[in-house]
Amino acid sequence: MRVDADMIEDLRSAGLVGEGDVAFEPLTGGVSCDVWKVETPGGPIVVKRPLEQLRVAAEWHAPVERGTSEVRWLKRARGVDPRIAPEVLAELPTGHAFAMRFLPGCPVWKDELMAGHVDGAFAAQVGTGIAAVHAATAHNDGDRSDFPNDEMFRALRVDPFLLHVAAHDVELAPALTALAGDLASRKIALVHGDVSPKNILVGPDGPVFLDAECAVYGDPAFDLAFCTTHLLLKAVWSGDARLNEAAAALVGAYRAGIDWEIADDVLRRAGALTAALLIARVEGKSPAPYLTDHEHKRIVRDQARALLLGPAPLDALVAHWKRTLA
Ligand SMILES: Nc1ncnc2c1ncn2[C@@H]1O[C@H](COP(=O)(O)OP(=O)(O)OP(=O)(O)O)[C@@H](O)[C@H]1O
Ligand SMILES: [Mg+2]
Repeated sequence: MRVDADMIEDLRSAGLVGEGDVAFEPLTGGVSCDVWKVETPGGPIVVKRPLEQLRVAAEWHAPVERGTSEVRWLKRARGVDPRIAPEVLAELPTGHAFAMRFLPGCPVWKDELMAGHVDGAFAAQVGTGIAAVHAATAHNDGDRSDFPNDEMFRALRVDPFLLHVAAHDVELAPALTALAGDLASRKIALVHGDVSPKNILVGPDGPVFLDAECAVYGDPAFDLAFCTTHLLLKAVWSGDARLNEAAAALVGAYRAGIDWEIADDVLRRAGALTAALLIARVEGKSPAPYLTDHEHKRIVRDQARALLLGPAPLDALVAHWKRTLA
């Protein structure tokens, strides 16, 4: 993770650091960006710069302009509710990098879940937070023209998660291809695009959403499906029924926030997308790193295949999701 002179110069020009030495501490986790914590006279900040090639096993390129989409999403979300996204401090001229405020003492939600700290009320707040951004941006021409990122969303989401599996699985291909087409055609609200527990901090006032590089004006059902998928995978991994309950709490709270269309329509689309994303996480280009056990994969795959061929609305899918095949 190289820090070049441009980066330090850009931070100086933005007035964030002084003339002396600047210490960059890499923050762990990133597959798509360099992310550093930097101490400044104004307090700790995070500097994030997108990579041209993601650090995943399969070769995977993505345009670096996604740094700009992320900044736009963070600012827009803070306009909806300042508690749900970190404050952007500067957009830096080199490499689509930006600086935001570091939030001290906020664990990553994924780490909490993997440690067995499962809080259904927090999951509900996640659902409320995502729905708030969707509701505020639904059918809004300004947001639609601010996030014209269909190509990026296709490269980072539709191709690797839906069409990659379709290309390798004749039986599932028609359903996945139809789903990909439907997803691309819907322009309803501002989608974050990466609502995963690893991109959510547990803040003092509820969830804080990070990592909006895939933000696009599209189908809000995608965000709901993406996050629910992670909880269902973790339920199989841990065998912990509280993760099913957390998924139900998330879906229920999200549903209560749907005011832009008929709620059942969103849950129906989210159910089909969740089935597809579950398969993608065991067979796709970006497998869930913790789901290595053969039996766990089979539990996910068997249920997800059946659900893709015979879709269920997301609330029903979650209610019937099995952690074992006993
Ligand atoms: N504003 C912030 N305050 C505190 N911690 C942060 C902040 N921004 C990022 N982090 C930490 O850095 C990690 C990586 O940040 P982020 O998810 O934005 O980068 P990324 O490279 O896109 O990650 P990935 O590709 O793994 O999702 C986060 O999981 C979090 O632990
Ligand atoms: Mg991340």
